[in-house]
Amino acid sequence: MTTELGRLIARRIALTGPISIAGFMAEALGHPRLGYYRRVLPLGASGDFTTAPEISQMFGELLGAWLADRWLVLGSPAPVRLVELGPGRGALMADALRATRGVPGFHAALDLHLVETNAPLRDAQRAALLGFTPSWHERFDDVPAGPLLLVANEFFDALPVRQFHRTAEGWRERMVGLAPDGTLRLALAPGLTPFAAALPEAAAGAEAELCEAGRALAAALGARLGRDGGWALIVDYGHDQSGLGSSLQAVRGHRGAGILDRPGETDLSTHVDFAALAAAATTAARVRAFGPVGQGDFLRRLGIAARTQSLKRQASPEQAHAIDAALARLIAPDQMGTLFRVLALGDDRSAQPAGFSDTPSDTT
Ligand SMILES: C[S@@+](CC[C@H](N)C(=O)[O-])C[C@H]1O[C@@H](n2cnc3c(N)ncnc32)[C@H](O)[C@@H]1O
Repeated sequence: MTTELGRLIARRIALTGPISIAGFMAEALGHPRLGYYRRVLPLGASGDFTTAPEISQMFGELLGAWLADRWLVLGSPAPVRLVELGPGRGALMADALRATRGVPGFHAALDLHLVETNAPLRDAQRAALLGFTPSWHERFDDVPAGPLLLVANEFFDALPVRQFHRTAEGWRERMVGLAPDGTLRLALAPGLTPFAAALPEAAAGAEAELCEAGRALAAALGARLGRDGGWALIVDYGHDQSGLGSSLQAVRGHRGAGILDRPGETDLSTHVDFAALAAAATTAARVRAFGPVGQGDFLRRLGIAARTQSLKRQASPEQAHAIDAALARLIAPDQMGTLFRVLALGDDRSAQPAGFSDTPSDTT
């Protein structure tokens, strides 16, 4: 049994022909009424996945300190647009703001902007950020001009990708079409793909993905940073170098699912190609990419061990155990520490920001 959205997509394909995987993802995640990121509360124990800020307050606190440090390096501009892409339930931003209350002038300078398409999540963000007055936007392009501090955790992995399969004749795009019984099914497009020039050489049988939306957003972000100044921090699961392979995965209720299963009720995500994001962002003048580095190294360099100790001093034995478990989840190489990568975008004349090398930043 498919969903209402599954039937709508099937009807569209019956009328106009097969659609790309990116077209399918855009509908399944972003359909205005029935898309996954429009209607359900995907996060937390009752949702489909748990993210770093939901695991521990330390994540948002340390990212907040990083952003405040970048604000100081920028010369404390006021106002500064503090932007989060896909803030989920608002935990990261709430922790970041609480942790930076003591930075003189920082909160007075902040103009808070949240890019979020999901109405229930906007409500959760409003509740988490009581005392602040964010503006919400559907798209990053709608954030007003001015110096920027931007953070995005697990946002880019939700953007649509095209998928390709290498046959003996060349690259073919994977499409979503219809089986004889009218249900959705995957099939390769006949004929050469117009995207072949953008794909690497590979042997028959290879797979590849291309995230045009991610590249376009990174380019817009880079252009904005080059023009108005500022810093961006992008955290996600992914890889440092562009390469072959398919990473699109479907999750429903903390379990793996089929990509075409129950559109609108199933989360779809991919591993982020950080090299492609960095290349797109740094086509802008005066913008440099720092990293990516592993989330574990990044948080360790920002002092997560000391923060763990200070939280544990006021904790019961059970709480202390939970704090240690959260620390391990965030930084252990076999958990989120290595798979999750952290990329910063900022001024190409700047020294390495905190977290990107073991040498303390000389600007802090
Ligand atoms: C995987 S969740 C991550 C949430 C949060 N950053 C965290 O770490 O807990 C993805 C977030 O991005 C939002 N989102 C997904 N696609 C979006 C899009 N195209 N435009 C704006 N927001 C989007 C979702 O509603 C959600 O808030």
